[in-house]
Amino acid sequence: MKSGNAAPESLRQRAARAIGNALFGLFVAVVLLLTVFAVTYQPPDPWLDTAASAVRMKQLFNKVVDNATFQTAGSIFLTGEDALAPANSRAGGSISIEDAQDAAEKALEATRGLNNGGKDRGCVESDIVVNCSDPGVLAAIEKVNLEKFPEIDAFEYRVPVQGGDERSCDVAWKYRPRRERSKRMYRDYRRYTLVLEPSCEYQVTDVGDWHSGRNARLQRFHGINAFNDSISSRGDDDSSSVGRFLYYTRGGDHCKGMKQFMWSFLCALGEAQYLNRTLVVDLGFCLSGKDNFPGRGDEPGKDLRFYIDFDHLRESTSVIELKEFSKLNKKHKLGKIRKRVISDNVKVSPMELRDETSTTVERSFRESSEPDNYWYRVCEGETEKVIQRPWHMIWKSKRLMNIVNTICGKLEWDFDAVRVERGEKAANRQLWPNLDKDTSAEAVLSKLSGRIDAQRYVYISTNERSPGFFHKLKEKYEVSVLDDYKDLWGPGSEWYNETMALTRGKPVEFDGYMRDAVDSEMFLRGKKRIETFGDLTSDCKDGINTC
Ligand SMILES: *[C@@H]1O[C@H](CO)[C@@H](O)[C@H](O)[C@H]1NC(C)=O
Ligand SMILES: *[C@@H]1O[C@H](CO)[C@@H](O)[C@H](O)[C@H]1NC(C)=O
Ligand SMILES: *[C@@H]1O[C@H](CO)[C@@H](O)[C@H](O)[C@H]1NC(C)=O
Ligand SMILES: *[C@@H]1O[C@H](CO)[C@@H](O)[C@H](O)[C@H]1NC(C)=O
Ligand SMILES: *[C@@H]1O[C@H](CO)[C@@H](O)[C@H](O)[C@H]1NC(C)=O
Repeated sequence: MKSGNAAPESLRQRAARAIGNALFGLFVAVVLLLTVFAVTYQPPDPWLDTAASAVRMKQLFNKVVDNATFQTAGSIFLTGEDALAPANSRAGGSISIEDAQDAAEKALEATRGLNNGGKDRGCVESDIVVNCSDPGVLAAIEKVNLEKFPEIDAFEYRVPVQGGDERSCDVAWKYRPRRERSKRMYRDYRRYTLVLEPSCEYQVTDVGDWHSGRNARLQRFHGINAFNDSISSRGDDDSSSVGRFLYYTRGGDHCKGMKQFMWSFLCALGEAQYLNRTLVVDLGFCLSGKDNFPGRGDEPGKDLRFYIDFDHLRESTSVIELKEFSKLNKKHKLGKIRKRVISDNVKVSPMELRDETSTTVERSFRESSEPDNYWYRVCEGETEKVIQRPWHMIWKSKRLMNIVNTICGKLEWDFDAVRVERGEKAANRQLWPNLDKDTSAEAVLSKLSGRIDAQRYVYISTNERSPGFFHKLKEKYEVSVLDDYKDLWGPGSEWYNETMALTRGKPVEFDGYMRDAVDSEMFLRGKKRIETFGDLTSDCKDGINTC
């Protein structure tokens, strides 16, 4: 009897797993597709031209689904950054080698003057105590950073402080990675060992690892790494600033994939902009778990701020968080009379609301059923020509980008990246006859051999989750995969603490969308980027005979 019960159970489980795997495979495939597109696409003027960026995002979406059914690839997490190419030249306003040289020369003159009463006799070599606040120290550090980290642009340094001993100094600085497509700044602090040369110039003899300058850790920069997206941190008390609002109640997009959510959310943002209204945003939302990890159900309790940079959104347009809005409503008694509720959202277009004078326009999606209760339906048809989705307002969460930058830091901003797509595709010999063998550790190792120098850092972006799968590559390279950096989101990590601050102390799971965001961003940051399709294998991305 026992075995009779067990058999159908395991069959069902197996079926569920197979379906889950298929979905995940699809998800990865689409992520890959988009990544390639993002890598190869070089738009001329990314930030200024928002209309063009909206068109590009539409193209990105259409690459994935030519009809907006969202039945496939719901798990894609696209942001405005994905349509942009990274800047590969020095950013305006960052510290250049000329700046560092000037600073060094000024410092040198001052030192010589001090040490020798104006006479140019040089410095005494026994001068082993390094004075960290001497401008010459900072100039030497700036110079060495420029040489050692060409992938980042430094914008501002704090005055170095004493490091671990008399020869070392710790310093914090503000930087932006060249391959970062947003305009955000980050912070690093490292320990430098220096000597004072007889010429009175400081030389750096050793550069510490990522975040090694512990004594400089507390030197803060205004606005850097400080998250300003906690709701209680602000409140519109001024009744003159009440303004007008647009509110979308929860619709059929709730508990769907991220891609559908974004497509819908951006429609709402676009309409609010068009109507010059403040969008009421419910930060709490629900995602479909099955896109995220195979076999999962719906996942409520997500916070928009886990995924996107809410600070940036708030700076870009007028939004108000739902709870704040409710408070405001009560306080100013906005009540029912000044609210227009729309139930037929497919019929009532934004254009018809242009002259609406109610304080609040509420699009209620409760009365209709799928697919009419999808938010994005508001932006379909004629409206499509009028409303532009403001993609440029959506950046990936800085909390996630901090993980990306930490991994880059640990790899000394000097690594190559390989995308190894396996999963369902590798298992499907009919459509991808060679993928499995072409992406084995041995095959990848031999493919990399001609292209990447031995001992380089190599980051592998992959959906292969078997631990140690790429172990063989360690013979020749310093390889790592995302799971090697688990600590960065594990209990007690910065990310863990910072996301818990948004959930009143409830631990947040590092989910598939977050993994994807970090893993694909890491791939884009690689110096050399080696793709699965076209590089590792001659199989086609979309199956046999599609390329
Ligand atoms: C478009 O829709 C049709 C029918 O609804 C479906 O068969 C097809 O797979 C869809 N295309 C994509 C790329 O999802
Ligand atoms: C270190 O350098 C700073 C700046 O040049 C100077 O003001 C300070 O007196 C120096 N400290 C020592 C101990 O020499
Ligand atoms: C946080 O946001 C508030 C309101 O917009 C602003 O006044 C404040 O300067 C911000 N703080 C930081 C550190 O950016
Ligand atoms: C929104 O404001 C802009 C500029 O103030 C104006 O040109 C536009 O007509 C306004 N739109 C609506 C719907 O009021
Ligand atoms: C996170 O919080 C825990 C407990 O408050 C603390 O011990 C830990 O140092 C924090 N981690 C970081 C990276 O700040």
